Amino acid sequence: MSYTKLYKNSIDNPEKFWQEQAKNISWYKEPTVILSKDKNDYPQWFEDGELNICYLCIDKHIEDGFGEQIAIIYDSPVTNTKQKINFNQLQQEVSKLAGGLQSLGLQKGDTTIIYMPMIPQAIYAILACARIGVTHSVVFGGFAPKELSIRIDDCQPKAIITASNGIEINKIIPYKPYVDKAIQISSHQPQHVITFDRKQNVEIPKKDYDIDFEELCKKSKPAAPVAVKSTHPNYILYTSGTTGKPKGVIRDTGGHAVAMKFSIQNIYAVNPEDVFWAASDLGWAVGHSYTVYAPLINRSTTVLFEGKPIKTPDASTFWRIISEYKVKTMFTAPTAIRAIIKEDPQGKFIFKYDLSHYKFQFLAGERCDVTTLNWLEQKLNIPVIDHWWQTESGWPMLANMAGLELQEIKPGSAGLPVCGYDIQILNEEGEIAADDTEGLVAIKLPLPPGCLTDIWRNNARFKAGYFKKFPGYYFSGDGGYKDEDGYVFITGRVDDIINVAGHRLSTAEMEEIVASHPTVAECAVIGIHCDIKGQIPIGLIVLKSDVDTNHNLLEKEIIQRVRTDIGAVASFKKVLVVERLPKTRSGKILRKLLRNIADEINFNTPSTIDDPKIISEIQELYQQQQIGRFTKN
Ligand code: COA
Ligand code: AMP
Repeated sequence: MSYTKLYKNSIDNPEKFWQEQAKNISWYKEPTVILSKDKNDYPQWFEDGELNICYLCIDKHIEDGFGEQIAIIYDSPVTNTKQKINFNQLQQEVSKLAGGLQSLGLQKGDTTIIYMPMIPQAIYAILACARIGVTHSVVFGGFAPKELSIRIDDCQPKAIITASNGIEINKIIPYKPYVDKAIQISSHQPQHVITFDRKQNVEIPKKDYDIDFEELCKKSKPAAPVAVKSTHPNYILYTSGTTGKPKGVIRDTGGHAVAMKFSIQNIYAVNPEDVFWAASDLGWAVGHSYTVYAPLINRSTTVLFEGKPIKTPDASTFWRIISEYKVKTMFTAPTAIRAIIKEDPQGKFIFKYDLSHYKFQFLAGERCDVTTLNWLEQKLNIPVIDHWWQTESGWPMLANMAGLELQEIKPGSAGLPVCGYDIQILNEEGEIAADDTEGLVAIKLPLPPGCLTDIWRNNARFKAGYFKKFPGYYFSGDGGYKDEDGYVFITGRVDDIINVAGHRLSTAEMEEIVASHPTVAECAVIGIHCDIKGQIPIGLIVLKSDVDTNHNLLEKEIIQRVRTDIGAVASFKKVLVVERLPKTRSGKILRKLLRNIADEINFNTPSTIDDPKIISEIQELYQQQQIGRFTKN
């Protein structure tokens, strides 16, 4: 069926459309109620269906006779390891760990936190939880103990599953001590910490709550999958919001499984047995959806990569993996490609490999600049597809549905609405904007299956954050416009969220940390353009009048605070001391202006500014400090 027809069906009759799609997965109890409302009047999918998503990822394929097929290819240039894991082996590993968790008293309704590097045991942990109905929350390893502790207090895990260490370029990241530190500063105390020892000579500090991952699995009986309701929270994934506190996006089970199966085939053009690689950390939504759940539900082979696009060992790694494992479709963030281009501008490494199996390159996570898209297209000579989604949606909202019918690619656009998403560009008054007119990107309810169903223990934030601005719509927080063919161009966030190397971060959260320094009277943290990372944060601070400190020292201290509280992933490396900040006449800091002065030559001066002379002061400072467009090459 053509894209246009299928898309129309999905919008005109969502219930019928998703009822059909739900038949593509196995249920213990097939749903009869397809679309209903929950207690908050929010649409929910497949209410009376029952299933187990780990069963769909593993056992179903073994029952169908595919136990010997490779499920996971683990490739770790940082440890020189390559490992292929078939569905039979995956079942053994996952069911034993699940049995181990049960022996510790974990059961349906409990939560766990998984804080692990990119190793197979992280996938075992995710699936083991899902197998016994335990809701997992994976926390990205680049977050510091304080961030981990915020998540511990919010989702109150009975157990934390971790590893001795991670490995970044040329350095060891000690995960277990970070977990200990996080527990020490948390109010909630998990009963168990299960640690996988990578045996890389990293000391594992011993605590009363410790359990050894391998010993637990060795002595446990394998656990069978437990049936859960479709609406059961499969996982919680914390993401940055516009306040200092991250929000726990809840993903259900049935809607999620249906969306995964639908999207991997119809968007990514991946069939059973194909090799698919989403080069994202498991701590992000991409890792959850397209490194773990979608490929495994689809009986495709997934690549688990522990490394970076560059320096592990060089800019050839992506192409080596694609060639070696005959990857059909790959998904990464534009920042990774920009990093590769910087190291290998001619793309010489690409031509060293046989990439004849490689059919589609997908990019997302941040705006994709046309130069990067064109470079890739030219070097790879396959469709390079920018697509748009969020942690909240869990799967693409805008894309080129290559598996269904490849459409024209318009560089700069994240594509056309995906089946199930009625995407509209609204003005501030909630009216539909004319073609080519920039507005706010919103999606008419109901959202399709697989999207967030709530915010963990904070329904008020869920309603206020997404549905209050435009009743009847989900508000994405992004700005954009549609052209006359319906292609949507995402122009960026309209709130305090920034995207640093494809990682979503809150400047409000950074600002709270900077403001807590005793010398700071007031401050602003903004995201400015970065050629490689897309955006990077910088801080501007006004000192209290009696402060007479060395500015370099102060800058180091503040940077360290952000690193200690949020983590290295924030890439917060620059603080500028200013006499005053630009403000409106009513006293609001003009953060957007600060950003625009750094990024744009022709920016608009807000009519509400209290003193326009400050613009030249800021320009001069940026020039001196080589910030943004004032950087000398
Ligand atoms: N555990 C611990 N620390 C981590 C980490 C992890 N999982 N991931 C990143 N960090 C640390 C890094 O070591 C670095 O620390 P440093 O400041 O001490 O050097 C810091 O966080 C920033 O890391 P990163 O943003 O990865 O920058 P980088 O300079 O090391 O690498 C890129 C730059 C572009 C190569 C890298 O960011 C990249 O591969 N990005 C793609 C991201 C992606 O795929 N996102 C997809 C989400 S959809
Ligand atoms: P995350 O929740 O981490 O996936 O980040 C979601 C945000 O990343 C979106 O709200 C966008 O601001 C941005 N984003 C993701 N994909 C794209 C894209 N293809 N083009 C522009 N922005 C994107």
